[in-house]
Amino acid sequence: MTTNRRVILSSRSKGVPQADHFTVEDAAIPTLSTGQFLIKMSYWSIDPAMRGWANDAPNYLPPVEIGAAMRSFAVGEVVDSKHPDYAVGEVVTGMFGWNSYAVSDGSNVDRKVAETDLSPSLALGVLGLNGVTAYYGLLDVCDPKPGETVVVSTAAGSVGSAVGQIAKIKGARTVGITSSEEKMALCRDEFGYDEVISYRQDDLAGALKAAAPDGFDCYFDNTCGEISDAVFTNLALGARICICGTASLTDWDPIPVGPRVHRQLLVARARLQGFLVLDYRDRYGPAIAALANWIRDGRLTYQEHVLDGAEAAPGAIDLLYRGGNRGKLIVVV
Ligand SMILES: NC(=O)c1ccc[n+]([C@@H]2O[C@H](COP(=O)([O-])OP(=O)(O)OC[C@H]3O[C@@H](n4cnc5c(N)ncnc54)[C@H](OP(=O)(O)O)[C@@H]3O)[C@@H](O)[C@H]2O)c1
Repeated sequence: MTTNRRVILSSRSKGVPQADHFTVEDAAIPTLSTGQFLIKMSYWSIDPAMRGWANDAPNYLPPVEIGAAMRSFAVGEVVDSKHPDYAVGEVVTGMFGWNSYAVSDGSNVDRKVAETDLSPSLALGVLGLNGVTAYYGLLDVCDPKPGETVVVSTAAGSVGSAVGQIAKIKGARTVGITSSEEKMALCRDEFGYDEVISYRQDDLAGALKAAAPDGFDCYFDNTCGEISDAVFTNLALGARICICGTASLTDWDPIPVGPRVHRQLLVARARLQGFLVLDYRDRYGPAIAALANWIRDGRLTYQEHVLDGAEAAPGAIDLLYRGGNRGKLIVVV
């Protein structure tokens, strides 16, 4: 009998969840009722946001319950259907959790994947929330103009690499911030950053100043912490800052303290804005169409880091927070 191989959250983590906070188990696949369909999953997504979903600190979604399959985005194929809008053979992506088979009534589906010429796994990365995040976070919040300088943290990652490339497509000059030599080379050679800086150095603020003597017009902030503290010392007049992620913070309780940036924002007349991709749910379509066309045209490239099987999932969030991923981290189910 086919069973649902799933990965449940078995104990509550504080900070980044580790492999032993999860358990891999097999469960029966429920019988379909009218209005439901069954999805056989191809890939699970590993996202930094999952750290917050596993914790019980206040967040924009309630915590995953202990004993429930870990919440995650996933992509798979409809293999049985009693729903008029979902046919066997269609590929769907949505919040299906770490399940190898999931029953859905359509409410947790983000979209049907129509780009049949491209890998379905892209629906979790550059043609998923990462790509859409890069697209709207950059174009709506930062709004870069040709000739302006855009700086991006986690520049080699799934979101960051797309931000850097979209900024170039829009005519901006790009500066990427990442950790290792290997990722710096990736940023330069694959993602076309004009300048790349490692944050693992004594004078990050000085290096940023040298890369952009007139200051940064746009900052796409994926990390918060000391990287952002350094960028805030080098803002151009009228800078726009998109607060997209806080990857450098391993815990939000207590709220970390750092330099107060009010004076720098005031002097630069800068705009600092939080961004959440879920607010753009009604506008995913145009962004995905634009991103897919840029991939087909060879103007947008991506990297995927594929882990093998359910047993690899429990340690994957920690891998991401240790910077061990090389591109969009996914599990092939
Ligand atoms: N607001 C939204 O709607 C939204 C949606 C999607 C993603 N995001 C955010 O976008 C960011 C990137 O997500 P992603 O999925 O593309 O992940 P990613 O960049 O592919 O992977 C995460 C990266 O974070 C970096 N990192 C980890 N710990 C760090 C630390 N202590 N200091 C600095 N950097 C650290 C590592 O890169 P390095 O090797 O370069 O350090 C790691 O590879 C995350 O902050 C995520 O929360 C936000």
